[in-house]
Amino acid sequence: MREQVYTREDTQRGPLILVNASHPLAAGSKPRLCPALPGEENVLLERHAARMLAACVRAAGGLGRIKAVSGYRSRKEQRQIWDDSLRESGEAFTRSYVARPGCSEHETGLAIDLAADAPFIDFIRPHLPRDGVYGEFRRIAPLFGWIERYPAGKESVTGIASEPWHFRYVGAPHAEIMAQRGLCLEEYLALLRGGGLRFAYRGGAVRIFRIGCGPQGVTLPLAVRFTVSGDNDGGLLLTVREESA
Ligand code: DAL
Ligand code: ZN
Repeated sequence: MREQVYTREDTQRGPLILVNASHPLAAGSKPRLCPALPGEENVLLERHAARMLAACVRAAGGLGRIKAVSGYRSRKEQRQIWDDSLRESGEAFTRSYVARPGCSEHETGLAIDLAADAPFIDFIRPHLPRDGVYGEFRRIAPLFGWIERYPAGKESVTGIASEPWHFRYVGAPHAEIMAQRGLCLEEYLALLRGGGLRFAYRGGAVRIFRIGCGPQGVTLPLAVRFTVSGDNDGGLLLTVREESA
């Protein structure tokens, strides 16, 4: 039987990695990047996340109306943003709206700040409305693997103030499950750590669960259909399609 070996490094990559104040991103990991949206060459995202964002914005009828404000940031850029914000807006504001260098999802290439097209767009707190084409984008984003990452009411869990403009690619079907159950990423990963779940999906079902990955790695058989993402917390998250009877 063919097998695949997963290492500790694999726990630090993939669409479900948790990056927050207590889970810094490993230094030196640079995603493969491309423009976040057609015609917005200056804002980059990890390639697959970019494809899914463009498809979602297009499906919502938002191309040209929903603007990419900030996507991938190097650690150096995140440090510059942190320092500038501290100087210009003070510590309380900065801690609420800017992640420390090394602890920002923007460094993964899986996060994007979006805004309604306007003559002036605030870089730290851009405005993305909830109605019209923007509301439609929000409604369908989970179908494309995207979630609003810092919802109101979850501040004590995420450690970040409500940011209705910051979206995170986690992939399918995770985004749909999180949206349906009202879970932020920290809560979703805690659920998977606590035993996992089963989710009816596309005419079948998937099981999603976590396995720990020690220094010796984990060997998985390729006979079973599954996808794998690291959690950036020493584990691998498996999404396994159930075989129909
Ligand atoms: N605004 C988010 C928290 C960041 O700086 O990554
Ligand atoms: Zn952001």
